[in-house]
This record gives sequence, structure tokens and C-alpha cells, in this order.
Amino acid sequence: MKRIVEPLVKWYRENRRELPWRNIDDPYRIWVSEIMLQQTRVEAVKPFYARFLEALPTVSHLANVEEDKLLKLWEGLGYYNRVRNMQKAAQQIMVEYNGEFPREYEKLRKLTGIGNYTAGAISSFAFGIPKPAVDGNVLRVISRITGSYDDIMKASTKTKVEEQLSEIIPIDAACDFNQGLIELGAIVCVPNGAPKCDICPLAHLCYAKQHGVQGELPVKSKAKARKIEKRTVFIFKDGENVAIRKRPSRGLLAGLYELPNIEGELSQEEALAYSRTIGLAPLRIKPLGEAKHIFSHVEWQMIGYSIRVDELEHSCTENMIFIHPDEVEKNYPIPAAFENYVKHVNVKIGQEKFEE
Ligand code: ADE
Repeated sequence: MKRIVEPLVKWYRENRRELPWRNIDDPYRIWVSEIMLQQTRVEAVKPFYARFLEALPTVSHLANVEEDKLLKLWEGLGYYNRVRNMQKAAQQIMVEYNGEFPREYEKLRKLTGIGNYTAGAISSFAFGIPKPAVDGNVLRVISRITGSYDDIMKASTKTKVEEQLSEIIPIDAACDFNQGLIELGAIVCVPNGAPKCDICPLAHLCYAKQHGVQGELPVKSKAKARKIEKRTVFIFKDGENVAIRKRPSRGLLAGLYELPNIEGELSQEEALAYSRTIGLAPLRIKPLGEAKHIFSHVEWQMIGYSIRVDELEHSCTENMIFIHPDEVEKNYPIPAAFENYVKHVNVKIGQEKFEE
């Protein structure tokens, strides 16, 4: 394994992509980028990253921002508990470390939401501390190089790889070594389709390449099948406003705002009947078709209706907010699951906002 260090570091220095979170040593910025990169692709992260840091340039800004504003900055990235945990960690850094990131792996590791990977990434990228940062990319690369058939979904496999890398990570190039493994996994030793072994600096050391088993490695057991939930989503609108509501503070999409929706697939008649049971007076109904959203443990299969009602404000018995769509787009974090429905009232959310 030790033989991978030199060619990997050299390759990374010559071939790395220039990305906004590289060549910086601000631990806060590195942290934000790493949490975002756990959610989505590099290209998708870029605009979120820029906007987040403009709004919240320091740990102190993050520690003190209102929750709705924070969630709005994360809208469309998913896994909203991660950003809530970031805020808790920021508050811990303010209280326990006077707003300065601790420069020790063990102390970073104790902050809320910071696991081995993130602690390793911050310590090595910001402070040059030789701790490994093992994510899915790195597990794939190392499984192929060493010819390991261990299941990468198991915690014990990750621990083993962390131990192997701890032994070889160079003390004078910890950042470039870790980033090199991540970069190699992202652009050469790719997951789907054939890896680009012809341009890999480690091909001559790689078990999978030598035995032609790149397609078999890594071994990754399947996650449990997702539960499927049918839901009916409503756009209730009068001449001006639409109805949204705040989700409970625990559970899926906690604290975000949503279009009213209920379990089950309602027919047009049932949808009209439901609107009456919550005190609304429907005037017209338009079906909005189907949409699907995949969360980590559940899949929503939705149908939607747009229902024009008389006097949204006055009669509704449910706890809802009646508000102009422009205001929704500006200030209320709405999860991407509703993207296909909110567009009917001209509200763009999440990723869509950055697309022209
Ligand atoms: N994925 C996870 N961390 C990354 C990084 N620092 N650069 C590019 N892709 C990444």
C-alpha cells in the first residue's frame, strides 16, 4: 500500500480540477463544502456553496442565523438534519472554542454531525493533520487496489480502510493524499461503467486492474427496499395567495414548509370533498398529474390538484399560511419533493433556481 503514496500525490498535483473549495485553508469553508458534497455532485454544489458562504461567511453567522433562513439556503440539497447539525456544531464552536475551529481531529470529531470522514477532511485540508478521510469514493478506490471483497456498506470495512490509510498517509502531504484519493475516485476510478485504468497513476499497483475484476469491486450490499407512500398534494389558491404549512419539528423534512398534502391517492371528487372538510369552498379543480420523489427510506408517489377556492383566509380550519407565491419563493424553505407542483404557481425551489 505504501507504494501508492508518491504516484497518487504527484498525479493529484498535476491533474486536479480547480474547485472553489480547493487551495483554501479556512476550515469553515472546507466544512461547508464537504457536507454539501455528501449530498450531491460537484457541479450541483457550486452555486449552493457560493450562495451559502455569501449569506453566512463565518461560523458566527451560521451559529446565529434563523432556522428558516438556514433551511432556505439548503433548499433542494436534502438531508436537512445535516445543516441543522452544522448549526449546532457552529454554536458549540462559538461557546467552547470562542468561534475558532479546534485544530485537533479528536475535538472536531466530537462536534455535532462531524463524523470520521468530515473530521479527517477538515483536519487534513485545513491543518495538514495526517488523518484519513474515507468516503464512498475512497472505499471504492482502496477496495479495487487491494482486491478487497469486504462489503463497503459495513462499518467494519470502513474502519479497516481508515486503519490501513492511517499507516501510510504522509505527514507532509496529508491534504493532497486525501484529496488525491477522492479525486481519483471521482474522475478515474469511477463507479458506474468502466473505470479509466489507462490513465490511472495506480494501475500498476492495482489488484482489480491486474485481475480484470474492476466490475466486481467494490462489493456493496443493497440497502433495504424503500417504503412506498401514495400522497395527494393540493394547491389551494384564491385570486392571490396559496396555502402552505409548516411540517412538524421532528421526522421527515422536519420544520420545512410544504403544500398541503394527505396520505392516499384521492380522486377529483374526493379531493373536492376533502377541501370542504377543512373549511374551504372549492370553485374549480384542475388535476396536476403525477410526480415521484425518492427519499433515503421512503418514496412518495404523488398526485396533485390545483383547487381554486373562495376566501382562503377566512374559513380554513387547518393550521395553514396563506401567502403570495413570490413570498414563498423568497422566504419559505420548500423541499424538492414539491418541485413539480409549486411550479404551477410559478415558484422555483432548490436546484431549479440556479438553472436558466
Ligand atoms: N467529494 C467529497 N469531497 C470532495 C472534494 N473535496 N472535492 C471534490 N469532490 C469531493
